[in-house]
Amino acid sequence: MTDERDFESIAVAADRPESGTKDVVTPIHLSSTFGLDAAGYPETGYTYGRHGNPTRAALEERLADLTTGEHVFTTASGMAAISTVCLSVLSPGDRLVASDSLFGGTTTMFDEFLSRFGVEVVTVDATDPDAVADAVGSSTELVWVETPTNPLLKVVDLGALADVADDAVLAVDNTFATPYAQRPLELGADVSVFSTTKFVNGHSDSVGGAVTTRDDDLAERFAFVSEDALGSPMVPFDAFLVTRGLKTLGARMDRHERTATEVARFLADHEAVAGVNYPGLEHHPGHDLASRQMDNYGGVLSFELDADGAETRAFVEDLEVCNLAMSLGGVETLVEHTASMSTASLSPDERADAGISESLVRLSVGLETAEDLLVDLRRALAKL
Ligand SMILES: Cc1ncc(COP(=O)(O)O)c(C=O)c1O
Repeated sequence: MTDERDFESIAVAADRPESGTKDVVTPIHLSSTFGLDAAGYPETGYTYGRHGNPTRAALEERLADLTTGEHVFTTASGMAAISTVCLSVLSPGDRLVASDSLFGGTTTMFDEFLSRFGVEVVTVDATDPDAVADAVGSSTELVWVETPTNPLLKVVDLGALADVADDAVLAVDNTFATPYAQRPLELGADVSVFSTTKFVNGHSDSVGGAVTTRDDDLAERFAFVSEDALGSPMVPFDAFLVTRGLKTLGARMDRHERTATEVARFLADHEAVAGVNYPGLEHHPGHDLASRQMDNYGGVLSFELDADGAETRAFVEDLEVCNLAMSLGGVETLVEHTASMSTASLSPDERADAGISESLVRLSVGLETAEDLLVDLRRALAKL
């Protein structure tokens, strides 16, 4: 922390808005433009909503303390955060070295969008720092990883990757971990992004994202792309919701982790389950690394059923306490059949290459009791 207080104390601290009314929370400032004392375009203060807004600024300031990033840009979605970084760093002819285990939307954006602009996308197993080192050549400007990854929960060694990324920008999608569990900038990454749609807001009622960095030059480029080129900063109402969600992030993550561990152990012992991916389980290949790199193993797990695709779809449709819905990180448990949902934008071959089978289920464990979740899962598994 740049601030000496603990994460939870910074997250809940009362705001001190400048209005003089002593509100303990920042109001939602809806004005799209701000009055000026003199003609011109002042360097400081608020001018126009796309370039700055007090509600958004209050969130960004708090996130700067919580992520230990000096510069934070909140965006209209997690994908807007990812696009902001890519379009700030990459030019035609550059190479992007990307993990082979990423959110399906990110992979599709890299392969189908960035490649149209002459960016060479090279995919590697980012759990192997030597493979990343081999792929990073002189034209590599950006190395992109997630940890833990969506949906396979692979764990990537950020310190080792910071060493091999060389002069390239190392960007880490920290959506699954959140800044409460893992702070990539402290581990050597140049940039950390996350979707605030997930755990950071936590209540499935806002879509947003954030880009964080300590690098002044990158920050200048991110500001231009986010505010001027893409014009995609977070809107004030979402900034208000995310600021509120942040206040309970630590408490929620502790509970998500506790229940996810119980659910993961139950699934690992069940005869209808072929395998469970959760970094908190001792047998997970990334468990030791996650224990060093993270303060909390998170609330998402995935598992393979001993079943075919149709049976797996019937299983997720049969659940009642677990909600069949896109997304993750909400207070309510969210379940998906990954092949037909979050990786539907990938071709069957791309899914196979990424290790995503028709029998894979992703579970984002919410704040229900473990007992109620286990009753639901046990009942649906018994039908397989
Ligand atoms: C790891 C990860 N990164 C980024 C995103 C994109 O976030 P958003 O949906 O807020 O654009 C997602 C969405 O599921 C995700 O899981």
